[in-house]
Formats: sequence, structure tokens, C-alpha cells
Amino acid sequence: MTYKILQVQPISGCIGAEIYGVDLRQLDNKLLWEELKQAYLQYHVIAVRGQDLSPDDQTQAAEFFGQSCPYPFAKGMDEAHPYMTRIIKEPTERTNFGADWHSDTPYLQEPPSTTTLYAVETPPAGGDTLYANTEAAYQALSDTMKKMLEGLQGVFSASLKHKPGGNRKIHHARINTMAVQNSGEADRLESIHPIVRTHPLTGKKALYVSALHTLRFEGSTEKESRPLIQMLNDHCIEPQFTCRVRWQPGQFNIWDNRCTMHNAINDYHGHRREMRRLTVGSQKPQ
Ligand SMILES: [Fe+2]
Repeated sequence: MTYKILQVQPISGCIGAEIYGVDLRQLDNKLLWEELKQAYLQYHVIAVRGQDLSPDDQTQAAEFFGQSCPYPFAKGMDEAHPYMTRIIKEPTERTNFGADWHSDTPYLQEPPSTTTLYAVETPPAGGDTLYANTEAAYQALSDTMKKMLEGLQGVFSASLKHKPGGNRKIHHARINTMAVQNSGEADRLESIHPIVRTHPLTGKKALYVSALHTLRFEGSTEKESRPLIQMLNDHCIEPQFTCRVRWQPGQFNIWDNRCTMHNAINDYHGHRREMRRLTVGSQKPQ
């Protein structure tokens, strides 16, 4: 793929690219947005460096990838941006938001296809985000395993029942600054989706499963399901399928939840980190 406007620097051999030389406030530059979508489909996560985006700018940029979606577990940042959430960890806090490998909000009937995250303030080092390419992970499975997974449906839960350190209620209680909400609703929020999903734009198959959110396979017990869920999760995050994205203020990451997982690393205690998050493009996984 060649790009006329974007300067594209792949981050690893499998997933992720840094993008330079663009200003995402140029909403009328059609070629820029076409190329950005191409890069997004090619690399699954793009880290657009050197931006200066207001919440409105971020909304307009994000909505090139779909309509804004609500996030059930954090309040919107203000009335004008009800779906945009501020992700903050203060120097005094120990718990972060977004740790442990996952695709965003798969417990919704129509999870967002795309997540955007804009860095307002970043620690001097640390606070990186890991990404995994679940399309490449699916491709690397044996034909026998691919056949076994055919037609398998997963039960995805918001409860965070298996999160290291405690479920969503316990986790939320440890978060002080972020405006978390609806902790009591989490156990009831479940959806069923295929474990292998097909990307509507590329036709490629990807694993859609995580130890964090996939409780069990439909029609099976947790005891029967968890070992295979854990194996698939661990397979997806093998180093050859991943990349690690460093942040700097003004960086705008856009990623495809249909073929990736991510994990926010909590290694910057004593420093402040502030991001703005907006998800777009609700879509039933197929
Ligand atoms: Fe996330």
C-alpha cells in the first residue's frame, strides 16, 4: 500500500503503525481520510502523532469511522460530549482503567467497531498500550482448531468475574478520579457473539474472545469452557501477534475492535495520565 499524504511507520511486523505529517482538523481533505481508513484497515491500530484536538475535533475525527456510542461504565465528560469519557489516573492512585487484554465492551449487543483515544497528559515513561492482532492469531491456528471453533458462540459479560484482583464492583471501588458509574449493573450485562467473527469490510476472520470478558461458550459450563477460552486468549497475545504503542501528548490512537485486543499497562505510579476516549460504529459481530 502506498500513501500520498500519510507518513506511515509500521510499529511491529504484525500490527500497528505510527502516522506522521497530518492534521486531523482538516476535515475536508478527502484523500487524507481515505488514506487514514486504508491505514486503519491495513494496520488495525494507528497512532496519529502530533495532533491538537479539542473534544469536538476528536468527535469529528472519530465519526469518520462511525457514529458515537455510549459507554455504560463511565459518565460522559460534559453535556456537549455525553459519550466521550475522561480516563484519568492521578499520581496518588494505584489502579488504572483498561488493564488486562480485551476488545472494548463485547458484552453489548452491538459493540463499537472502533475506539479512539486522545492523549492529553502522559507520564514521562510508561503507560504504554499493548495491542494484539486477533486476525493473525486466528490464521495461525491449526485447521482442526479452526473447525472446532466454527459456529461456537461466546457469552460475554461485563461482570469482570475473572479479572485479577476482583470483579467490576471491587475494581470500580479502587478508582477515585474517573467518573465510573453503574457498577451494580455489570453482572446483568451479557451478550452472545461468535468466537470467530468475520470483518465486514475485509472479509477476514478473527478470534473474538478474552479471558476477561468471555465467561463461557453458549451451551457449556464455565468449567468446560474456561480452559479453551484461556488458551485462545493466551494464543492471541503471543508476542509475534502484538505491538506496543508509546504515548505522547497530542497523540490520537484509532483501533479496530473487530480484529484486535489491547491492554493498558499500569507501570507509572506517581505520575499523572489523562486521556479522552470515544468509541464509534456500533455493530453486531457476525
Ligand atoms: Fe479498552
